[in-house]
Amino acid sequence: MTIDLAALPQDFLWGTATSAYQIEGAVAEDGRFPSIWDTYAHTPGKIAGGDDGDIACDHYHRWREDVALMRQLGTNAYRLSVAWPRVVPGGDGPVNAKGLDFYDALIDALLEAGITPSVTLYHWDLPQVLQDRGGWPVRDTAHHFASYAAVVAERLGDRVTHWTTLNEPLCSAWIGHLEGLMAPGLTDLTAAVRASYHLLLGHGLATQALRAAVPNAQIGIVNNLSSVEPASGRPEDVAAALRLDGHSNRWWLDPVHGRGFPADMREVYGVELPEVSGDLETIAEPLDWLGLNYYFPSTAADDPTGPAPHVRAVRRLGVPRTGMDWEVDAAGIERLLFRLTDDYGARKLYVTENGSAYPDVVRPDGTVDDPERTAYLEQHLAACTSAVRKGVPLAGYFAWSLLDNFEWAYGYDKRFGLVHVDYKTQRRTVKRSGHRYAEIIREHGGRGHGAA
Ligand code: IFM
Repeated sequence: MTIDLAALPQDFLWGTATSAYQIEGAVAEDGRFPSIWDTYAHTPGKIAGGDDGDIACDHYHRWREDVALMRQLGTNAYRLSVAWPRVVPGGDGPVNAKGLDFYDALIDALLEAGITPSVTLYHWDLPQVLQDRGGWPVRDTAHHFASYAAVVAERLGDRVTHWTTLNEPLCSAWIGHLEGLMAPGLTDLTAAVRASYHLLLGHGLATQALRAAVPNAQIGIVNNLSSVEPASGRPEDVAAALRLDGHSNRWWLDPVHGRGFPADMREVYGVELPEVSGDLETIAEPLDWLGLNYYFPSTAADDPTGPAPHVRAVRRLGVPRTGMDWEVDAAGIERLLFRLTDDYGARKLYVTENGSAYPDVVRPDGTVDDPERTAYLEQHLAACTSAVRKGVPLAGYFAWSLLDNFEWAYGYDKRFGLVHVDYKTQRRTVKRSGHRYAEIIREHGGRGHGAA
């Protein structure tokens, strides 16, 4: 498959993505309070290798160097997240000016470098204070989120037009409250369903707050969607695939498109939603674009005795896998881009994350050769350009990630970066995949900034 760069619009956004807790470090500096991820990471046994985000990539101090790396790659966009516990450390109430100063300076530097900032308001780092008051299962959290969104928009909205409310609310709700494998580490279906509802309510309220503060804002939500196939033609597996599709995709897409929460999944969960009249309209606030995070496809088999949604993921034999043990299948990204366009009528899409982890090493000559990640990048970009050629309105691609970083429960062992980070020295090294990305961007003839 070839990368059909001619299919892409001239103003295509070529970006990289990161998130605050995964790269910033400086967790107790300049007035930042703990988030649920500080608490979770410091709970023994939760993170591989006993790692935590205390220092991470030390981006809080090295952001100038990291902006220079983006320039070196030739990217014209950067997707970052703002840490709520840095800006409103108590979750609601007093604003921490120093927290905002950090993002303010970063945004200026990005713009100065010709890089469009794309700001995500929530990438999983709920202030711990709010968790202590019930967290996302509680309605107030959605309102606090909107107030925090207004604070950030007030300060950055004169320069930032590209906004994301939530990153992958599925992970916050299902993995954090149902599977217990992410913060806050609960295994409670009722809490998970209530959290999912309030996350989407928070998304709608934050969208309203952003629109009020930033008239020209381009607002979207970012979901990690799954391209789901049944493990067999058995009716039970076909039904399981429909449930997994509901759990991973429709539960998150239908409400923001004004279709409400899927009735079949409400039945599967059997949990009453904390609905208040008018919420569904708020959740369905019109959006300017949709973000797709894609990593791997899913194959579903029926698992009647397992937890909701009673589905077992099946390993397909003979399919290559990344260091996360995730299948490599670029066809899945194209299928999802079509689905968002055809079934949900998306008028503007971004691939807001896509990437792969492999165990990289720095060679004696100082280079990092990562042929598998390079191939993954090329295959997925080829699938994206093919989708555009067939009419998908894709306006940008953000590689996950700029840097190797704190990969949540996997700690630092899993490396997703186009740039290698030596955590002992904080030395950054552009990998072969990073050089290849720079080459592709240059070939596209976009707004590149030079050679990597
Ligand atoms: O590292 C994460 C990111 O925070 C959210 N999307 C998936 C990435 C890889 O697991």
